[in-house]
Amino acid sequence: MMNQAWISEVEQSTLEDGLFKAGNLFPGKVFFSTSLGQEDQVIIHAIAKVKAFVNIFTLDTGRLFNETYNLLEKTIARYKQPVRIYYPDAANIEQYVNQKGINAFYESVANRKECCHIRKVEPLNRALQGAKIWITGLRADQSITREEMKMIEWDEQRNLYKFNPLINWSLDDVRDYLKINDVPYNLLHEKGFISIGCAPCTRALEPGEDIRAGRWWWEDANKKECGLHILETNIQQA
Ligand code: ADX
Ligand code: SF4
Repeated sequence: MMNQAWISEVEQSTLEDGLFKAGNLFPGKVFFSTSLGQEDQVIIHAIAKVKAFVNIFTLDTGRLFNETYNLLEKTIARYKQPVRIYYPDAANIEQYVNQKGINAFYESVANRKECCHIRKVEPLNRALQGAKIWITGLRADQSITREEMKMIEWDEQRNLYKFNPLINWSLDDVRDYLKINDVPYNLLHEKGFISIGCAPCTRALEPGEDIRAGRWWWEDANKKECGLHILETNIQQA
């Protein structure tokens, strides 16, 4: 599956060229998931710049920061790219919060993973139905759980190629690109936030802290994935 010539061609391209080429490989079946993070803002800018043929979507967990919703509006206005918004299944959410509590994710890793599954993983799998390439803003140095990831990988579970064009970028590379191109970003970055997810599960960093320290800060570093990118079976059990 991984020996096609297009893989090395895309991997050796610039960000913009790589996105453009990827979009044309499987017309209508190339999807970019944005969380409106700094990396995702780089990618949406690049997609818009070269008019890459890519479908863009975001997962609204229902627990995002207001700043994130404001950035979504601003980004759509700026780039004129349609961003499809996916929601969790209402019946699943109702059952979970009524049985376990509105903030049950603080009580155990199992509760937290169940919340992430309902609010992110299931909607993601729905959004990716029929996709051949899934583009993400993952970077290798974001986390110990991401060090081994490659720019283009075969996602066995979802039966598609995962394309992480920024896998080798540093946080400074990302910030420089945003600055040079005057790309809109989340105002929470000015208040000490780096990696931003749901509001109850994200906090600002203290000086010197690791960039993922503000996500699910009450859990161990090797468990801090929501299941979007790391299979549950590959995360150490609680
Ligand atoms: S997470 O797994 O910890 O939540 P992170 O916030 O680092 O992921 O984001 C990594 C990539 O996952 C993003 O660049 C984006 O492609 C995807 N992603 C994460 N959260 C969302 C979301 N709410 N909607 C769409 N894509 C998302
Ligand atoms: Fe639920 Fe927190 Fe996961 Fe968001 S990050 S889906 S609120 S557990």
